[in-house]
Amino acid sequence: MEGVKAIEWVNGRVRLLDQTRLPHQEMYLELEDYHQMAAAIREMRVRGAPLIGIAAAYGMALGARHIETSSMHDFLAQLRPIAEALAATRPTAVNLSWALKRMTLAAEAALDPQAAREALVTEALRIHQENADADRRLGQHGAQLIPAGSAVLTHCNTGSLATGGYGTALGVIRTAWEQGRVSRVYFSETRPLLQGARLTAWELARDGIPATLIPDSAAGFLMRRVAIACVIVGADRIAANGDVANKIGTYTLAVLAKEHAIPFYVAAPTSTIDLATASGDQIPIEERPAEEVTTFAGVAVTPAGIEALNPAFDVTPHSYIAAIISERGTAREPYARSLQQLFQQEGVRHG
Ligand code: MRU
Repeated sequence: MEGVKAIEWVNGRVRLLDQTRLPHQEMYLELEDYHQMAAAIREMRVRGAPLIGIAAAYGMALGARHIETSSMHDFLAQLRPIAEALAATRPTAVNLSWALKRMTLAAEAALDPQAAREALVTEALRIHQENADADRRLGQHGAQLIPAGSAVLTHCNTGSLATGGYGTALGVIRTAWEQGRVSRVYFSETRPLLQGARLTAWELARDGIPATLIPDSAAGFLMRRVAIACVIVGADRIAANGDVANKIGTYTLAVLAKEHAIPFYVAAPTSTIDLATASGDQIPIEERPAEEVTTFAGVAVTPAGIEALNPAFDVTPHSYIAAIISERGTAREPYARSLQQLFQQEGVRHG
């Protein structure tokens, strides 16, 4: 499944798989400037926390190509609004600002604009490669938590389409499947944009992993009737105390898992951990247009004038989380200490 290239830097442009068209069409977009990248992130043509960070990094490299000046001071002054425009696209996934910060530092270290343009491409490619490597390592750590022959439940899409690599929660599931630990994957449709039904289904079918789609609202029924070994999800931002922001519906699954004594795991690279945010209460939660809820496939399903609340994410308090799996190892309670320890290991960058 790493054969799927959700995003790629090709000859000074970005080739992007348009995820809004999946599963029916595999359509690629060729992006030439950062405005197009900002729109693609906002419209969720590219999505998933790690992939949003990678996309923003490539977006900055694209933007730098169009800055015409020989002064480094002017170059950096013109780069700033590009980073700000990309940062403003989606507020919850911290991978976005994390990647933009790394890109800014790479440009600042260059001696002249041409060297900075090249450094930005190199840094974006490095961020992409590091994410893919992290997926592989966290997959290995996470698979150890899954007993042989398990049925597991996951939410949203956390695979190659969300990370540009092997996936986070889906990467753990893939690794565990290869090791004979997974007998079946249950996955929720993920209303209202159906990342589960459209994207996770597409990835699991390509891999030939036995899988069953459930409506979001069937999770409680499933946990009562089927022996689910664990729930495993990704994350958009993990606060210093271990609270996790992830796709709306994650908190509901965590509460249900606790009620049924099912371990609830979160898989994410360390670039998703935000030690500068003390708890989940401080994580900004993106609210998306009401029409995503009041319509289905472009057709209105409510009477005109109905108001709808459409938060894209929710926060699961750390007390519901049995373990947070990263490429640096697995953290458990007390998260305030164990997450810090992941960063104390040599060579980890964080903002
Ligand atoms: O709104 P999306 O589709 O970008 O949300 C994606 C999620 O919530 C994922 O679970 C999260 O980004 C982790 S992806 C590895």
